[in-house]
Amino acid sequence: MNNEITKYNKQFWNKRGKNNSFFVAGSPMKKANPENKIVGKYRNRTEYKHLKNKINLNGKTLLDLGCGTGRLTFVFAKKCKKVVGVDFATEMIKQAKLYKNKNAAVNTEFYVSELQKYKTEEKFDIIYLGGVLMCINDTDVVEILNNIKNYLKPNGIVINRDTVSLTDRRKHAKEFHDRTDFTFYRTITEVKEIFNQKYETFYYSETYPIVIALNLYKRLPDKLRRNKIILFCLNFGLILQSAFFDKFLLNNKKLYKKVYNNWVKSDYPLRQFYFFHRLKQ
Ligand SMILES: C[S@@+](CC[C@H](N)C(=O)[O-])C[C@H]1O[C@@H](n2cnc3c(N)ncnc32)[C@H](O)[C@@H]1O
Repeated sequence: MNNEITKYNKQFWNKRGKNNSFFVAGSPMKKANPENKIVGKYRNRTEYKHLKNKINLNGKTLLDLGCGTGRLTFVFAKKCKKVVGVDFATEMIKQAKLYKNKNAAVNTEFYVSELQKYKTEEKFDIIYLGGVLMCINDTDVVEILNNIKNYLKPNGIVINRDTVSLTDRRKHAKEFHDRTDFTFYRTITEVKEIFNQKYETFYYSETYPIVIALNLYKRLPDKLRRNKIILFCLNFGLILQSAFFDKFLLNNKKLYKKVYNNWVKSDYPLRQFYFFHRLKQ
């Protein structure tokens, strides 16, 4: 069964790699509509900003597991001394290497490997798992977490960005939309429990809060949504939000309690979270 999961998921992500642009690994952005591109850029900005407000990346070494096309690997590389990206999808790594060569990102390295089989002699300050554990079953996740502790420097940290279910565990993306991969949307408690066998969780939070301009935009009739001025306002609204309001909104969820409750009650009660861990002493 585990081999089946890996086989289907590899096919799925290789296909995405082929169509992928640099912006959002999860979506074939080359053909994406302008709205998705704008939201993709917002996500890149806001995920990175949230992380760098919490963790000092300057001069650090970072291992990016499940790096995809290197969407964030290259952003990390601007601050870090060295970043190593690993992904099992050859097509994703191909894109990452193209970008690396084009932009002379000399402090990055990329390797094709299943995380279940990945081994290195190096030790890193930070290990970043970017939306990858949700693609892997519990038994393998436990094993991976056990292995990667050997690749951490003393006082190193493991950052897991994962999509979690706000209600009960959801097992398969097909339940929600037309995808062909296997996905394990764990609950927050389950993610923490898996880590807490070896690590302690010292911070967790949604990666980004309600996206205000997007919520307003979605209420507009279809015809208006393609209007260039409206799209400009959406982009501008999201730039303002990531610059000034994300942190405030994340800390004041009561302000959008109704929207939050609707997410919880929806057929798709998923949110993206950061979990920061260090090894238990
Ligand atoms: C949701 S994407 C995230 C990509 C990237 N971290 C980002 O944030 O843009 C998940 C990535 O994990 C990779 N992946 C899934 N299962 C994997 C496994 N068992 N071993 C290695 N990579 C895997 C996929 O190929 C895909 O690129």
